[in-house]
Amino acid sequence: MRLELFTLFLLSCAAPLLAQNVTCPTPPTPTAWPTASSFPLVSTLPDPFNYLYPSTARVASNAEWDIGTLVAWAWGFHRVLDALIFTAPEIDSTLVGVTGCSRLGKAALAAGLFDTRITLTMPMSSGVQGLGPYRYSTLSGQGENLENSKQGAPWWSNSALGTFINQSNRVPFDAHVIAAAIAPRALVIDQGSSDPFVNSRGTATVIFPAAQAVYDWLGVGPNIGLAMRSGGHCDMSGYTNVLPFVLKILKGTPTTRTYTDMTPWQAIPTAYPWTSNIPPK
Ligand SMILES: *[C@@H]1O[C@H](CO)[C@@H](O)[C@H](O)[C@H]1NC(C)=O
Ligand SMILES: *[C@@H]1O[C@H](CO)[C@@H](O)[C@H](O)[C@H]1NC(C)=O
Repeated sequence: MRLELFTLFLLSCAAPLLAQNVTCPTPPTPTAWPTASSFPLVSTLPDPFNYLYPSTARVASNAEWDIGTLVAWAWGFHRVLDALIFTAPEIDSTLVGVTGCSRLGKAALAAGLFDTRITLTMPMSSGVQGLGPYRYSTLSGQGENLENSKQGAPWWSNSALGTFINQSNRVPFDAHVIAAAIAPRALVIDQGSSDPFVNSRGTATVIFPAAQAVYDWLGVGPNIGLAMRSGGHCDMSGYTNVLPFVLKILKGTPTTRTYTDMTPWQAIPTAYPWTSNIPPK
């Protein structure tokens, strides 16, 4: 029997890979283990991720290592996937999806970005440091920007991002680059049009179409979708909102739902002028 592995975002305290007998390297002396308050959803115990990145908490003075919790959470997801692949052969591990909402939408994006075993990435209401734009932060009127995102939760990402506070227009990338880097693998972006926290409008009208241009150029346009819904932040309709796209990607089930509709808004092509100059294939 063929089972799809359709995995919700899981958090693991990241036991070593049992099936692979991985031995952790000798840990460098950490400057600080994460504390419960700075690392709210990750085990406070030292684990292999901390051996690799020994200062993932708020230790700006050790910026070389402070990779941030979003990547730590993604790493935990990858290790769960390892364990499933090695111990659950009845699960078809070529059909893997990752999702999460809000901060875990950002983490799901990181998980999908860094592991090509993940067939389908489904960030929901992910916002800045996810698929919310650093630029065009005033579009939605929600006021979410690099400044309040990075200052409110500095432990999510590397402190280098904080050096762009008050100059977010100088960040050398924007969120569409992360979306496009997942291509040709599938990506569906869930956003609520009335989300009171994140810049859904910027994600829908700038990030999605700019990434879509890359998917189109690669000949995999149907592999990216924008799943707009009415409603707010992480409401429970996200699942049904993306389900037809999931079934299309994982099972080949046709759907009449259009995953390019950004109603109530329209794309802002002036935000991605380079798409008029895409080289011929
Ligand atoms: C892991 O170690 C156990 C105990 O030494 C051994 O029986 C097993 O074969 C090892 N597994 C792998 C994949 O090497
Ligand atoms: C950013 O700008 C605000 C408002 O002018 C100011 O209070 C803050 O100190 C600035 N932060 C940095 C890191 O420059």
